[in-house]
Amino acid sequence: MKRREFLLGSSAAASVLGLGALPLTASDAAQELVLQPASYRLRDQPTMGMVSLSPDAPPPVLYGRQGEVLRLTVRNTLPDYTAMHWHGLRIRNEMDGVPYLTQMPIGENESFTYEFTPPDAGTYWYHPHCMTMDQMARGLTGVMVVAEPEDLGFDSEQVINLRDFRLDEDGAFLPAYTARGAARAGTFGNVQTANWQSEAVYDHAAGSLVRVRVVNTDTTRIYRLHPEGAETRIIAWDGHPVETDVTRPTAAQPLLLAPGQRVDLAVRMPDDEGQSAQLMAKFPGQKHRAMVRLRATGQSIARDLRELRPLRPNPVARPDLGQAELHEFVFGWTPEGGAPNDGFCGSLGYSFWSINRTPWPGDAAQGTGPLAVLQRGKSYVLRLRNESPNLHPIHLHGLAFVPLTSNLRKLPPLLSDTMLLLKDETVDIALVADNPGDWAFHCHVIEHQKTGLAGFIRVI
Ligand code: C2O
Ligand code: CU
Ligand code: CU
Repeated sequence: MKRREFLLGSSAAASVLGLGALPLTASDAAQELVLQPASYRLRDQPTMGMVSLSPDAPPPVLYGRQGEVLRLTVRNTLPDYTAMHWHGLRIRNEMDGVPYLTQMPIGENESFTYEFTPPDAGTYWYHPHCMTMDQMARGLTGVMVVAEPEDLGFDSEQVINLRDFRLDEDGAFLPAYTARGAARAGTFGNVQTANWQSEAVYDHAAGSLVRVRVVNTDTTRIYRLHPEGAETRIIAWDGHPVETDVTRPTAAQPLLLAPGQRVDLAVRMPDDEGQSAQLMAKFPGQKHRAMVRLRATGQSIARDLRELRPLRPNPVARPDLGQAELHEFVFGWTPEGGAPNDGFCGSLGYSFWSINRTPWPGDAAQGTGPLAVLQRGKSYVLRLRNESPNLHPIHLHGLAFVPLTSNLRKLPPLLSDTMLLLKDETVDIALVADNPGDWAFHCHVIEHQKTGLAGFIRVI
């Protein structure tokens, strides 16, 4: 079957088929990202059958600059299809990397050049959106940093990519998902890593100011985090500067960082050489443990957090709540049970979940309409209701939103692209629909996404 056949009759056909030729001239230097098999020592023995962008290392941190064009050519050397998504970036729809919705899957030995200009500075990430479960579980999740033009006064930076792997004693992959997990909270990995290290240690100058960018790229786990051993401030959330005071997470009240979410910390390193600042995590049935240690080196350079210049807000339009139209979404189990369509992007073989009681019929399914149609430039309130006992990080592509209210807790008004819904929680979020296109809208627990908890929102 031809990939294009899936599109016949789909309303997305016109925009996708128009993608044929990207105007790239020879002088345009595109960074090439080559999907390839990899191996790495996650446990005592190397784990084979990983997926990365080099044979023996994690996917690199990709750097861009706010307001400057970025060209990334994804070349696929794997026998499976793929498509690359840039999580949190409010870029044009054709570059969003969602198979069938915005582009054709990229086949073996095929390339696709993504060209976009990030409007926002901050911490973002990238991952495949086709064969998602398989390729992400095998390692293909990387961090993307979009730098702001101004110097904020940090001495150094530390990127932390948190994720689990599911391995047996010998370091070989266990199945990435189970039907039991997919129908509940998801299937958890058993080896927790930061930048693929079980005990990551990084050196930074004593008394210096470090910008720590923490990204949860796991397929399942909601990390419970708190900083220890150093003066720390939260300066950004999901890429966007934090403009209000947020309480510093503690062991008793950890920060919940769900799959897809990011937090930027300003850390003032300890003064004494050898002391460390830690990012602590709590896993069920275990004591708190340090995911990452930042070790102080040399003589203290005696910086002060108050010397940092504040981050400038990103150019996100603020919704006009007086004019906003309400749309409601219910996330829960599905009354129907067929297997989702397995285009070329993989299916787990079950439908367990739904949005508005309709399970996503699969990436390549024909004739699936949007969950909502929003008018470009107008303000909206989206009411997100979780009627299940499981937690769901609900992610919207291409737009940034601000949480307004919850029936369970007080939510700081932090701009975001991924809203964690607690058990039985209803959260109202608001946004301006200012980026046209078909925007994927799904749970970022990949087993939920791939078994029905997905859809898209159209902005026209
Ligand atoms: Cu992080 Cu639809 O993705
Ligand atoms: Cu995304
Ligand atoms: Cu979910």
